[in-house]
Amino acid sequence: MKKGKKLYEGKAKIVYASSEKNLVIQHFKDDATAFNNKKKSVIDGKGILNNRISEHILTYLSQVGIKNHLVKRLNMREQLIKRVEIIPIEFVVRNIATGSLTNRLGIEEGAVLDSTLIEYCLKDDKLGDPLISKEHIYTFKWATRREIEKIDRQLLRINDFLVGLFRGIGIKLVDFKVEFGRYKNNSKNEILLADEISPDTCRLWDMNTEKKLDKDRFRKNLGNLIQAYQEVAKRLGILHEQSNVRPLRFPKPKAVKIKNK
Ligand code: TMP
Ligand code: ASP
Repeated sequence: MKKGKKLYEGKAKIVYASSEKNLVIQHFKDDATAFNNKKKSVIDGKGILNNRISEHILTYLSQVGIKNHLVKRLNMREQLIKRVEIIPIEFVVRNIATGSLTNRLGIEEGAVLDSTLIEYCLKDDKLGDPLISKEHIYTFKWATRREIEKIDRQLLRINDFLVGLFRGIGIKLVDFKVEFGRYKNNSKNEILLADEISPDTCRLWDMNTEKKLDKDRFRKNLGNLIQAYQEVAKRLGILHEQSNVRPLRFPKPKAVKIKNK
């Protein structure tokens, strides 16, 4: 697949045109940002891990019928994805209270929510992605009622699937953020999950120790971010333990003298 011109550069990803009109190439950078770009760093290898982890999760999601933009992973840092018109809303799904929910409403840190909470934020960095209500979405026509009803149903299915996937590897899915897009295919309009799902966009706590295995390690200066992302990848079975055993070496063949007869 030939890479075309750069179409868009975000904080952690770059999107390039491809040789096909309906497809684009998404490149995962090593850049980490927090607090609306106020805190920045480059963390070697983060993009590679997010590319692999997100590919793994999105592949599973399509297998259980949750349509998403992933076509295939192309290499260590790139994926071929469907070109969509992004709905300008960040959908946040929460199971346990932390982050902006506790700061905003004074809910106790770590409180398990009685039911899954969906929040909507306007995707606008200049405004700091403010929290909005469904009424704002409909009044300003950022999405239709039908689209939001469909997305809400999908969010709960995605959450159920991810909670189970992570529980199986000893991790609590605390919350996550995703975006959706409109995909035009043969005059048919489809809503697709159009985002990465990775430790950059989820909060993941170890089930036993509550150790954070996500981007909060960067946001809160906890260190060892790459080790935490590697831990998630290892538990998902997509990164194999580095063997400490030295590779077997075979002795050099001895020169064999061939006698002249
Ligand atoms: P919050 O508690 O800071 O609102 O974050 C909720 C979830 O959304 C959490 O899993 C982190 C994720 N998130 C992003 O992926 N991108 C963002 O820009 C923000 C603010 C949060
Ligand atoms: N990605 C967002 C930013 O830089 C915020 C975050 O993930 O905390 O601004």
